[in-house]
Amino acid sequence: MEAPGFWWLLLLLPDLLFAGIRSNPAENPPVQVNGILGGSASFPLKLLATTTVARIQWSLRVGSGPEKVIAELKDGRLEWQDTRERFGQQLEMVDGTTLRIRALEKEDSCTLDVRVVFVSGEVLRQTFRLSVFEPVPDPEIRPHLVSRRAEVCNVTLHCLGSEKGGIEVSWKRGNSSDQPGVLEEGSDTDLHVSWQPDSLDSTFTCLLSNPIDRKSASLDLASICRSEGVSGCLSWARVAMLVGVLVQILTVASLNVLERIGRKHN
Ligand SMILES: *[C@@H]1O[C@H](CO)[C@@H](O)[C@H](O)[C@H]1NC(C)=O
Ligand SMILES: *[C@@H]1O[C@H](CO)[C@@H](O)[C@H](O)[C@H]1NC(C)=O
Repeated sequence: MEAPGFWWLLLLLPDLLFAGIRSNPAENPPVQVNGILGGSASFPLKLLATTTVARIQWSLRVGSGPEKVIAELKDGRLEWQDTRERFGQQLEMVDGTTLRIRALEKEDSCTLDVRVVFVSGEVLRQTFRLSVFEPVPDPEIRPHLVSRRAEVCNVTLHCLGSEKGGIEVSWKRGNSSDQPGVLEEGSDTDLHVSWQPDSLDSTFTCLLSNPIDRKSASLDLASICRSEGVSGCLSWARVAMLVGVLVQILTVASLNVLERIGRKHN
């Protein structure tokens, strides 16, 4: 049947013309969507219930590649285009107008352009920018004792885990990443601490974060500044005693040898 299609076009024609004449179709600012590797990302449209949609077109651009139409909603029917192949079964429509990409891979970072044509002829354009991030690794704190006195213990804390890049490092006094502890200055992987043994908070927390994930590790300075001191003292005493004993043994042994040599000569 050709006729209905033809009449439909005639009915739409003024709308299309008007849409073309409108110098600026309504354009919302681009929306940043952050997804986690293996997770999914949705691109919901903010459509007023009072407006009736005539058509929606979804176009994807991956990297610097060309923009390709991947789906079209026309006359209330959704049609996937061949270009959907790039994403295979990762693409699905959630509630009729919300596109979703499942099982995200690193290479799926892309730009999605959605063009909505209302029955009134108005056009709405919405751009989404999808960035896919890897989960943040568990941080590890390596302490390095710089100096230790009775009144102050200077330690350099090194936070491991941000080597891959794209990960922010921050330090906090306190042992939980959720509690609003005091943020330490700087966002370096190294934190220099001058810790007084009489201060209440001895725990330091390193936080690793990216736009979709955050992990933390805590370390108690008291254990380093106190126990290392004690065991250090003990081990020095032990080494001194050991050296003393060795010297004695050597002395006795060499006296013995000298004595035997003396006897042989006689
Ligand atoms: C510990 O660090 C502070 C501040 O950096 C410094 O003023 C102090 O001299 C250091 N103390 C020792 C014993 O190294
Ligand atoms: C954190 O610190 C509080 C008090 O300072 C303590 O009660 C709690 O057990 C600590 N939690 C961990 C996980 O170390």
